[in-house]
Amino acid sequence: MRAIQITELSGPDDALKLVDVPEPEASTMLTPGSGVLVEVHAAGVSFPEVLQTRGEYQVKPPLPFVPGSEVGGVVRSAPDNAPVSAGDRVAAFCGLGGFADVVAAPEFFCFTLPDELDFAQGASLVLNYHTAYFALRMRGRLAEGETVLVQGAAGGVGTASLQVAKGLGAAKTIAVVSTADKERVAREAGADEVVRTDGPWKDEVKELSGGGVDVVIDPVGGDRFTDNLRSLREGGRAVVVGFTGGSIPEVRVNRLLLNNIEVVGAGWGAGVMSKPQAVREIGDAITDLIAKGFVRPLVGARFPLERAAEALKLIDAREATGKVVLELD
Ligand SMILES: NC(=O)c1ccc[n+]([C@@H]2O[C@H](COP(=O)([O-])OP(=O)(O)OC[C@H]3O[C@@H](n4cnc5c(N)ncnc54)[C@H](OP(=O)(O)O)[C@@H]3O)[C@@H](O)[C@H]2O)c1
Repeated sequence: MRAIQITELSGPDDALKLVDVPEPEASTMLTPGSGVLVEVHAAGVSFPEVLQTRGEYQVKPPLPFVPGSEVGGVVRSAPDNAPVSAGDRVAAFCGLGGFADVVAAPEFFCFTLPDELDFAQGASLVLNYHTAYFALRMRGRLAEGETVLVQGAAGGVGTASLQVAKGLGAAKTIAVVSTADKERVAREAGADEVVRTDGPWKDEVKELSGGGVDVVIDPVGGDRFTDNLRSLREGGRAVVVGFTGGSIPEVRVNRLLLNNIEVVGAGWGAGVMSKPQAVREIGDAITDLIAKGFVRPLVGARFPLERAAEALKLIDAREATGKVVLELD
């Protein structure tokens, strides 16, 4: 079968090679000796794959390996105990191996893809939307009627967080973005208000939220983190999701007691990878939000498999919006 491998750790320009490799066995790292084989129609591309081309991601498989953590496709075979069966359209999280014609995924990480969503949207569903739900509800304890600030709001996690927050009953969502094009994407994802990083966004957020927000979702980090804390109302929670901005912020903890606020970590992988029941619970919640019309992944750019490097470079250049996907024949 065709696959894209990372063959060296030299960055997205040179690290990727299109190769012909044997199809995988129905076995995964999380479920040795068992798994669902999926014929891949679309593979999601995310920040971790960019980092993997440089050896900078926490998961460092031996070279060469096939990256790609999630796919949309059709089940070729599934064990009897799986929630999906041969012929089903699915969204699946495979961890690695998704940039290929066929991939094996753990049974508990396969979800029937509703008719409303195409394969590219299926390849956009697990990593970002499960993370958004985990961060907002399970870690940020978002309650109905609360206000949510989303950093990096035109990105994959950002657009997902805007939609999931509304689905969970947020009264208002405020998006933070860096460009006019990203402002358009954040609005398309359903943001009630959008502020720009090149303006006085903290003051605007205070005003738009009537004194402060209840929850901040932050996949960006860097030097805007202190202003995240200043944007919270009393009892607010700032949820740490990622560091695309490049640096890991430090918190002066006196800020936490001054206004009784919290900084909460949300590591979706660490939180659910060994808990199939939690994965199914989140999957059910997302399926419900799709049925109610809140969740509609925004696919920003589509590339054929052999142009995977361009997909990674788009993310690396901070030009991606929504989800970037590879489409296979
Ligand atoms: N904690 C978890 O469980 C979990 C799960 C999934 C993903 N993540 C992490 O969350 C982060 C976001 O992922 P994503 O898929 O949403 O990424 P993405 O689609 O590329 O969006 C990231 C956003 O970060 C902002 N940004 C600021 N400085 C940047 C820079 N120097 N380079 C690139 N982007 C920059 C950009 O927004 P502006 O230009 O508008 O500022 C961009 O839209 C990643 O670090 C990823 O590893 C964490």
